[in-house]
Amino acid sequence: MVTGGGSGIGLACARRLAEDGARTTIIGRTSAVDAAASLRAEGLNVDAIECDLADVEAARQVGDRLAAEERIDMLVNNAGIIYREPAETHDPREWERVLDINLRSVWALTQPLGAAMVGRGFGRIVTIASLLSFQGGINVVSYATTKHAVVGMTKTLANEWAPHGVTVNCIAPGYIATNNTSALRDDEAREAEIRSRIPAARWGEPEDVAGAAAFLMGPDAAYVNGHTLVVDGGWLAR
Ligand SMILES: NC(=O)c1ccc[n+]([C@@H]2O[C@H](COP(=O)([O-])OP(=O)(O)OC[C@H]3O[C@@H](n4cnc5c(N)ncnc54)[C@H](OP(=O)(O)O)[C@@H]3O)[C@@H](O)[C@H]2O)c1
Repeated sequence: MVTGGGSGIGLACARRLAEDGARTTIIGRTSAVDAAASLRAEGLNVDAIECDLADVEAARQVGDRLAAEERIDMLVNNAGIIYREPAETHDPREWERVLDINLRSVWALTQPLGAAMVGRGFGRIVTIASLLSFQGGINVVSYATTKHAVVGMTKTLANEWAPHGVTVNCIAPGYIATNNTSALRDDEAREAEIRSRIPAARWGEPEDVAGAAAFLMGPDAAYVNGHTLVVDGGWLAR
């Protein structure tokens, strides 16, 4: 199960997990339905559930239903948005929207699906965090708040669910070339500034993150728990 797999990192994760043999479902808006159809056309076992994750109650209903009716062994909480505006003028409605999608809906899905995994004695949960789980950034107070929060949520769930065979981890991508960062890449000076600070000297690709997700989902990561795996070309180490 991959949320927000209609584009970018989520789409790469859905493709990679399906290629690795998982029966994969994308949860999201119209783009999720379209992405699932095109992955199916490539011969991959992918379907979609339409749900606007800005509607936390709808996310909760989907989570409850899937927990009761399906066997979901792996969950990638990927859907997320960013809103850039200085703190003094950060629109309270946008603050709520960022919290709803990036944090509250993550919990609304993870609680019932994780509880079902605990009941079955196996599960893998990965949430896409960010460099802004470690740094504050500028003009992104709502986003940085949510990305710090999901790391805290992950550590608690990892502690509680590890004895039941359920691993819970995060991936913190660096600067990845997706819609999320198109405004930064469209600004030539900013793009060059960012790239020059990345030791790997390039923007990350969604597939870089999907590889890390495949690792955390796979048997080699059975003893990896409560970890935030940074996939950033060396940005944080610099
Ligand atoms: N790109 C980076 O450099 C970077 C770095 C750190 C962390 N991240 C994180 O990586 C995750 C994926 O982002 P991305 O970079 O791949 O950008 P993206 O291409 O914009 O992907 C975001 C996905 O979230 C979905 N989404 C947004 N609002 C939604 C809603 N209300 N309901 C359901 N789905 C919704 C989008 O679907 P729609 O097509 O319907 O909008 C899209 O599929 C996010 O959590 C982001 O914070 C990205």
